[in-house]
Amino acid sequence: MKRKIANLQAKIAEAKLGGGQNRIDSQHKKGKLTARERIHFLVDEGTFEEIGMMVTHRSTDFGMETEKYLGDGVITGYGNVNGRLAYIFSQDFTVFGGSLSETHAEKICKLMEMAMKNGAPLIGLNDSGGARIQEGVVSLGGYADIFYRNVQASGVIPQLSAIMGPCAGGAVYSPAITDFILMVENTSYMFVTGPNVVKTVTHEEVTSEELGGANTHATKSGVTHFACANEIEAINHVKKLLSYMPQNCEEVAENLPYQKTDESRPSLNTFLPENVAHPYDVREIISAIADGDSFLEVHKDFAENIVVGFARLAGRSIGIVANQPAYLAGVLDSNSAIKAARFVRFCDCFNIPLLVLEDVPGFLPGTDQEWNGIITNGAKLLFAFSEATVPRITVITRKAYGGAYDVMNSKHIGADMNYAWPSAEIAVMGAKGAAEIIFKREIATAENPQEKWLEKEKQYSDIFANPYRAAERGFIDEVIEPAQTRAKLIKAFKMLENKVVNNPRKKHGNIPL
Ligand code: HXC
Repeated sequence: MKRKIANLQAKIAEAKLGGGQNRIDSQHKKGKLTARERIHFLVDEGTFEEIGMMVTHRSTDFGMETEKYLGDGVITGYGNVNGRLAYIFSQDFTVFGGSLSETHAEKICKLMEMAMKNGAPLIGLNDSGGARIQEGVVSLGGYADIFYRNVQASGVIPQLSAIMGPCAGGAVYSPAITDFILMVENTSYMFVTGPNVVKTVTHEEVTSEELGGANTHATKSGVTHFACANEIEAINHVKKLLSYMPQNCEEVAENLPYQKTDESRPSLNTFLPENVAHPYDVREIISAIADGDSFLEVHKDFAENIVVGFARLAGRSIGIVANQPAYLAGVLDSNSAIKAARFVRFCDCFNIPLLVLEDVPGFLPGTDQEWNGIITNGAKLLFAFSEATVPRITVITRKAYGGAYDVMNSKHIGADMNYAWPSAEIAVMGAKGAAEIIFKREIATAENPQEKWLEKEKQYSDIFANPYRAAERGFIDEVIEPAQTRAKLIKAFKMLENKVVNNPRKKHGNIPL
């Protein structure tokens, strides 16, 4: 037995060395951690249990039978992240560049199935040269096996992907299906075809970083939800993100202990600019309403005209969707609608109540928007809110104009509580534009058209530039003092905590994609 145990220990030591010390050194030289080091920083100390450490590939072509590494380029297992069970795979770039073989894929699939059966999040730490070139089609099949399970797991358990190195070709589609992607600046990239192919096909000269680096995907494409300065920051973000989520779709996120304090926020009574055309940063309202510094913004640098993220309200995890008047006046456009719709759907999947802060002048006009499908894209957000069954509350702070009023979690599409500040203006459009259209003839024939226009603008504004018409109809449940917003929301979310709504039975809806 002594000899056998020594043999086991030797094998474990061999597996832990991955592709060998030279390749580990080269990984470090690139400013990257190894697959095992990443797991070490992610899980609570001493909690990681590895599964499949002795797995090797079955490939025999190109002399592969003599080149085998225990574990075959991916470490899989389970452990605790801040005290909660999670399933983790971490690709090891020191073994065939972390490339995905048939057995590497099998290890990941096995883990995904365990995560689904046992109802705990799946965290992928990706660092891979893509399909194992020596294996051909079985490697492609392995990817498809993973994609299929990503889809099966979607909405069942949270799936998070941290991209710590290359992620190219079809390999990008596994992270793309998961709920959140995090990328590391300068050391990770994602693209369907790399710079060389791009140059051949489109004659564009572009670096990997420009084409598919963290900042590109955080600002231009929206593919990544977070661009992190380094791997440790990315790992810490994974931990923080998880803290707002339940383990699976049957549970609710844990309530943090909360000591009731004075919930009034007097500063909000004087927060809005005097002039309704002036911008403000909605994050300041969020900070005033949410617990401490609990707001975690998602997709911060993409479609900045809408702000989305997680926060806590009296210890309860909530998702916030807020128009951002500081950027494009908070208008809704294709990207902001898509960004918000995906976030709303995530929250609904995992029983995270939704708070909407509304100050929206409408949809962005223009050929660019129309030709790029603002109709279909705006409908995504409308659809996402309408089908969401979690507790949903809206606070209209200022403008709620046109179709955007309907879309932004209005009472009509199923919101549970709709509040408005006294500054709310709920109308088909702004008073100036409205007067110009409905009093066109009177203005044109007036002795002083400008004066007439102003008079009619005031008339329209007196009737609609307030929340009371909507409140008369019950479309607004209560007009509240801004200072009371936090207190009202805490009570309302508590009141809604046992909400049950069943949408009509169906296979699945057909969201306009
Ligand atoms: C087998 C691979 C590999 C791969 C890298 N390696 N990629 N082995 N299959 N796909 C091996 C290298 O031979 C090398 O082995 C080691 O990993 C490190 O690679 P380097 O090239 O030295 O590293 P680096 O300079 O950092 O470049 C990394 C890289 C490059 C950019 C990822 O290796 C690369 O371009 N690889 C090929 C990428 C690719 O075309 N993949 C297929 C994409 S299509 P040694 O022994 O020297 O350490 C795809 C389809 C998915 O993935 C389909 C899903 C539907």
